[in-house]
Amino acid sequence: MEQHRSHNPNPSHQNRPSAYKREREDNGRNHCENKHSRPNRPQNQSVPSRGQNPDSSLSLSTRRELYERDFPVYKQPVEVGCFSLDSERRFFNDGRQMRYYVEPDRSPNFDLRDGYKDRFIKRDDSVKEKLDHMLRWILANRSKLSARGTTASSCDLDIDFVTWRGHLTKLLTAPYETREGWQLAVTRFRGTLYISEVETEAARRDQENRTERHEEMMYWGYKFEQYTCADTVHGRPDPGGVLNTNEAFCTVVQTRLADHRLLFSGEVDCRDKDPNAPAAPACYIELKTSAEICTPKQRSNFHRFKLLKWWAQSFLPGVPRVVAGFRDEEGVVVAMETFPISKISHLIKNEHNCWKPTVCMNFCSDFLSFVKHIATEDNPSVVYLLSWEPRRDVTFSVHRDSPYCFLPHWFVEEMTSSQPSHQS
Ligand code: A3P
Ligand code: MG
Repeated sequence: MEQHRSHNPNPSHQNRPSAYKREREDNGRNHCENKHSRPNRPQNQSVPSRGQNPDSSLSLSTRRELYERDFPVYKQPVEVGCFSLDSERRFFNDGRQMRYYVEPDRSPNFDLRDGYKDRFIKRDDSVKEKLDHMLRWILANRSKLSARGTTASSCDLDIDFVTWRGHLTKLLTAPYETREGWQLAVTRFRGTLYISEVETEAARRDQENRTERHEEMMYWGYKFEQYTCADTVHGRPDPGGVLNTNEAFCTVVQTRLADHRLLFSGEVDCRDKDPNAPAAPACYIELKTSAEICTPKQRSNFHRFKLLKWWAQSFLPGVPRVVAGFRDEEGVVVAMETFPISKISHLIKNEHNCWKPTVCMNFCSDFLSFVKHIATEDNPSVVYLLSWEPRRDVTFSVHRDSPYCFLPHWFVEEMTSSQPSHQS
């Protein structure tokens, strides 16, 4: 049963009288600043006709103050399916990799360095999977998604955007991000916009130049999962086993942000093992590690930077809580704390000039509107490449039959040649 409840972390704002329309119009002007300094180009300019390139001088601002308006409608995300990736990264249209949370002691003394590197199989992150696993899931579950009724929809799947949750997290946090830019490739195909990340040059360099300490610290987060998760509902964690980061359980959720119908997938760490726990995604738990907090400055940084990332990642799919392990310099977990996602916006209220959920969601919504506006040609071999660097506007370029193309032939052919089979 679909829920139509607005997913709003700050309900008191929802009915606040506001100059929403005027703000939007003002924002519209500001977001579409012309980078070649033709001032005040209105956002609602004529949409380029199909086959023509849109005006690539259009851009979108990420300035926070432009997005401080009422919280947009964000429907309670509904899980429409899940999939698993095994130890060799093979896809399964089921939940076989689901894990169950086993609550540890309050100060568990987990040694996160244990098993590095002798019991560690690391996923090869030079293999770019793009949207492939999600596309496999879509083909296997097309009948759940196809436009109900007979003819009217110009959109096969009844969905505006297909992407990874991680890409949306980057959009939510962009107004506050000062270090890392991104590039997102967008293709319109049969009415749906597919968004897939392209690795930036800077990210590739950072990855090549990681220190050994950094490499090891990336292991710590996964090791914490191994200490706190069991493979079966009545099982125990097995920290003596091999840790293989190819394995993943992913939820697929459907929701709506303003007038954008979204389908996205994200990796889920584990679920509440209580059989009476609420249905997914409300039973899911996100696990995190963080450096222990010893000073007010560290607490402030944790609120300003880390809680933003944690909130954005879990709020999107409707995962209600983060269980955090705080570790010392040697990688030993010395404290545990649970953060309900709905409480995070209250926790940060006392931080001066802190991030705001409404800015994150409004920017994401306006970004998706911008994408709809520019990515007009419905063609699997056309990519609109949206690029962003901190302190700059989002800009874009158009590429035909280029290495940026990311929808594989097997997906395009299957979607074009056959109708979904209507099992339920
Ligand atoms: P932490 O979450 O404890 O940092 P996730 O939290 O998203 O489930 O990811 C699990 C772990 O993968 C992280 O643990 C971290 O160790 C590693 N990881 C994920 N994304 C990363 C990134 N962008 N850079 C470095 N490590 C990352
Ligand atoms: Mg995690």
